[in-house]
Amino acid sequence: MSTNDKTYFIDAQTGTSFNTEIFLKHYWQQKPVIIKNFFPNFADPIDENDLAGLAQESDVDARIISNRQGNWHVEQGPISDFEEACRGKWTLLVQGVDKYVPDVAPILAPFSFVPDWRLDDLMVSFSTTGAGVGAHIDQYDVFLVQGKGKRRWRVGKPADYKEVCPHPKLRQIEGFEPVIDVTCEPGDVVYVPPGWPHDGATIEDSLTYSVGYRAPDNLQLAESLAMMLDKGARNYRFTDAGRAIQSSSALVNASDIAALKQQLIDAINSEDFTLSLLEAMSEQGVPEFPLEDEVTLEQISNEFAAGISFAPAPGIRALICDGKRGLPRALYVNGSQFAFAKSDQEWFEVLASGAVLNATCCQDAPSFTFLETLTTLVNNGYWEWAED
Ligand code: SIN
Ligand code: CO
Repeated sequence: MSTNDKTYFIDAQTGTSFNTEIFLKHYWQQKPVIIKNFFPNFADPIDENDLAGLAQESDVDARIISNRQGNWHVEQGPISDFEEACRGKWTLLVQGVDKYVPDVAPILAPFSFVPDWRLDDLMVSFSTTGAGVGAHIDQYDVFLVQGKGKRRWRVGKPADYKEVCPHPKLRQIEGFEPVIDVTCEPGDVVYVPPGWPHDGATIEDSLTYSVGYRAPDNLQLAESLAMMLDKGARNYRFTDAGRAIQSSSALVNASDIAALKQQLIDAINSEDFTLSLLEAMSEQGVPEFPLEDEVTLEQISNEFAAGISFAPAPGIRALICDGKRGLPRALYVNGSQFAFAKSDQEWFEVLASGAVLNATCCQDAPSFTFLETLTTLVNNGYWEWAED
């Protein structure tokens, strides 16, 4: 490589400074890039002890991947015996850290040029000197943000690589020619598009923050369709009144196949499917933490009027459609839809922005619908009382 190869290199602190428009046009989903100094004076918002604490929780997705004299081991969380799991050269990886640690939010913020619905989660790893999870290919875009320590990242071009499984839970690939081979220091970022092999070897004990994306495949889209049909919407049935005589009863007409496909296309083109898609796009897999003592609409209204503030729980990212271009006006939170009237738009936009919310945010008083939505969100644990 080389860091000299301008094709794959940006230094955010020099003349080639990071530009989101250029990035989206020339790199996103197209080619990897190392962005040196993306975060100037980077300070880790979390450390390996915090990560180890999360890895002990049963609702947190964590694992330790270690290499002991050439043999790979994987310990799936919750981890109870760190001494055993952390033998050899090891990496502790924790998914969805943004949902548990509000302090990591500033790491996601600069990537908001990609819409929230594409963002999956923030995975954080701690790896010891000499460790790494091996060369592999991911199906999703990722920004690898280097925290403390130093890591050598190599990234190669997509190709038909030989897959190896040195452990049932590890899918690695054999040997690739790197187009990027760089040592990352705190604040540097490597962007890797789906399908590009990569390998991070730890030079000095490192924290790596992986801003990971999602891209639904047809199977997932079909699940949204099934969800809609399950609710009884648009479950059309084939009809064929006025059929023409055909030469053989065994013959399948192309027009019948076209009609069957059209039946499905009509369901896909319905507004019900749009709603189902939007619900799936807002699904974050955040477990509901319903309040033990549910709050009433009256309580929330009174608190709001008294100047109390509310904010989304860590990692909650609401989606909003403003009623334009045929998309129904509604807020979506973790798979649930909250429709609202045009007159409520300003309040719902503040809610969706994730900002701290109080009675002074908009000029008009909040409506019943808005306060009712806020009450539901608080009761589901998606919004909470904000500290002043
Ligand atoms: C890691 O943090 O070690 C793995 C990140 C990745 O390669 O996707
Ligand atoms: Co990866």
